[in-house]
Amino acid sequence: MTANVIEVNRLEHSYGSVKAVDDISFTVKKGEIFSFLGPNGAGKSTVINILTTLRKIQKGEARVNGYDVAKESKSVRKSIGIVFQMLCLDHEMTVCENLEYHGKIYSMPKKERKERIEELLKLTELENKRDTLAKDLSGGMKRRLELARGLMTKPAVLFLDEPTIGFDIQTRMRMWEYLREIKREGTTIFLTTHYMEEADQLSDRISIIDNGKIIVTGTADELKNKLGKDLIYLETSDNKTVAEILRAIESVKTVTEDTKSLRVLLGVDVTHVLPLIMEKIRQAGIEITTVNIKKPSMDDVFVHYTGHGLREGEPQERDEGIKTGGVSE
Ligand SMILES: Nc1ncnc2c1ncn2[C@@H]1O[C@H](COP(=O)(O)OP(=O)(O)O)[C@@H](O)[C@H]1O
Ligand SMILES: [Mg+2]
Repeated sequence: MTANVIEVNRLEHSYGSVKAVDDISFTVKKGEIFSFLGPNGAGKSTVINILTTLRKIQKGEARVNGYDVAKESKSVRKSIGIVFQMLCLDHEMTVCENLEYHGKIYSMPKKERKERIEELLKLTELENKRDTLAKDLSGGMKRRLELARGLMTKPAVLFLDEPTIGFDIQTRMRMWEYLREIKREGTTIFLTTHYMEEADQLSDRISIIDNGKIIVTGTADELKNKLGKDLIYLETSDNKTVAEILRAIESVKTVTEDTKSLRVLLGVDVTHVLPLIMEKIRQAGIEITTVNIKKPSMDDVFVHYTGHGLREGEPQERDEGIKTGGVSE
């Protein structure tokens, strides 16, 4: 078997005339946390549903843990754990019973079930909730129970579809901690998210996905470094002219004009080129009101590659908005 736990080759999927997944190929290595980062409607859930055999594959090939999702779906299912929003817990069962039941379905021996439940209650910090009915747990605890259930069978790959959607930042960061711990146990993790920070902080590698296509893949650092060394935000008395001046400077990679400010991506360290930039603007008789310097963030990467922002946290209509020409690179 190869070291790739997930292999996807030229995957396509349509709902009627809507092409939700458009020629997607990628691999996930053993032990990695791999994220699909993209807006609502990008095709993330469709891909994850195909990989977990919940949706039938239409076109292309996909292997999970070495098994073909089309021909060996049973073996695929035995290899995976799933944490999806739509999978509900049994709310009339206690925390322990939910886990026990799941282990039984998967024919885990009693002793193994018992041991695993204790490990997972510890990991997800639900030890003192073991006899609480699932319906009486908070939202964050419910998701932790779902996580524990997904891990019950010690899967080779854990799939999570938007695992922290709607969580506050503390709850989200705790979830990241659990996932890092699970990674340390050797589990490969595939997750989807529309939170920039989640992809950035948690993933070994990220694929940015938009309109059913993978636009770019890499580690968070690779993606940011590819963009440029430093970013300057400038506000001046004449942004338009300044943009022209800056575009003529060799080490300036791109200049984007926002309503109020200019976003200047540099190919070199800011200290090398800032004096020149200031001097040229001064020579043109233009006043600089604000200078802000920062390193490219995941948001910058996303905007750069997709041509639009993610509008985090906003409720989004599936088929409206966020239509772009897509920047290809
Ligand atoms: N069951 C379905 N029937 C019809 N269209 C769907 C269905 N599920 C998803 N779609 C459409 O497919 C596209 C991708 O959706 P989805 O895979 O859910 O994206 P994401 O998870 O990134 O939000 C969207 O345009 C969505 O409206
Ligand atoms: Mg989705």
